[in-house]
Amino acid sequence: MKFNKLTVNANATQWNAIAEKYVNAAVRGVDRAFGAVGLGGRKADYDDEHYEFIGGANDELRKKHYDKSLRLLWKAEKHAAWSTFDDCSKEEELLLKMADQTMNANERQELSRMQSAEYKALLNREYTPAQKQALVNILALIGHGEAYAWLVSNEVLRDVKSTGAKAALTMQVLEEAKHFVVLRELIQAFEMPIPRLPVWEYMILEGTLKSTGLEKFFGMNVLVEGVALSIFGALSKFPGLEILEMFHLDESRHCALPTNYLKTAPLTWWERNNPVSMTKRFLLILPAIPLAFKMEPDFAELGIDVFDFGGSLVRKVINLAYRVGFHLPLPQDNMKDFINFLFNVYCSATREDHKFQSFLEREATLGEKELAVEREVFQLASA
Ligand SMILES: [Fe+2]
Ligand SMILES: [Fe+2]
Repeated sequence: MKFNKLTVNANATQWNAIAEKYVNAAVRGVDRAFGAVGLGGRKADYDDEHYEFIGGANDELRKKHYDKSLRLLWKAEKHAAWSTFDDCSKEEELLLKMADQTMNANERQELSRMQSAEYKALLNREYTPAQKQALVNILALIGHGEAYAWLVSNEVLRDVKSTGAKAALTMQVLEEAKHFVVLRELIQAFEMPIPRLPVWEYMILEGTLKSTGLEKFFGMNVLVEGVALSIFGALSKFPGLEILEMFHLDESRHCALPTNYLKTAPLTWWERNNPVSMTKRFLLILPAIPLAFKMEPDFAELGIDVFDFGGSLVRKVINLAYRVGFHLPLPQDNMKDFINFLFNVYCSATREDHKFQSFLEREATLGEKELAVEREVFQLASA
């Protein structure tokens, strides 16, 4: 695919890489040491260097239980037509009608094998190796994030009250599991090296998993899923990445979950505004800024200015956070101005002739459908 590759400051790229390498060694070293003496350390039993949970892939168990459960997942609309359920998709309704016709099992297997070879050929046709690597680097941010989303939603499942809320979280756990395994296969199809978690994202994800009670909603459903939603929204129109539209839909539901849940069980004034919680939330967001610096070359490869993307993302996440009641140490507008200021300071230092820009007014999501979905979640109109 033809992208207008943007130029980036080579020095800054190098310094960001060095800084990340040392902080990574320090943070993980401390976590390993604490883990070794039983004083905590890394909470997730997840190995991002190998893109696996500790214990390995165990595909057999996945196929026997997870895949099979999904295959056998029955729809109430079909089996209890009298009920109020409306859970069959259009395709499923159509499939029900066509179930007896068309292919046998062997033919179906052959088709899926061919499709995967065809898919790799399509990626090679559409993207240069550098573009493929950039896409893998960006998608792997979310790929690893899905592992944490899976773990975090499983913990939130215990913390929310009401059957409806637990049912909603159960579906999120299921969807995060699906996201992790499906996205992994998608990323592997690029046949490029898959990077580990950058330390900045490691800090955000571990911080989220370690945060207590409903604060996990902030780290995961507002911040991390906000990032995921934005990345899916920015990439789902790229050739071969159309499936990201489905992920985008799921993530938008996850982003909307805190709003819907907290309507029924609102945070108290103290939970919203106590200085310790506000500071913790701010510290959780902070590593996203060096993460943006680090990801600049990958976005640039695809013709996307990382600060346009980041600005669009920060606006949405901050709007959502305040709307839900997860306040930060500064009033909403000052918070946005502050982050826009930081972006501009970095650009002034690393870009020739940089002029002050309103990055937070940018829109990085492509596609009318995706924008409509996001408008509902983030109330962009109020931005
Ligand atoms: Fe997800
Ligand atoms: Fe999610």
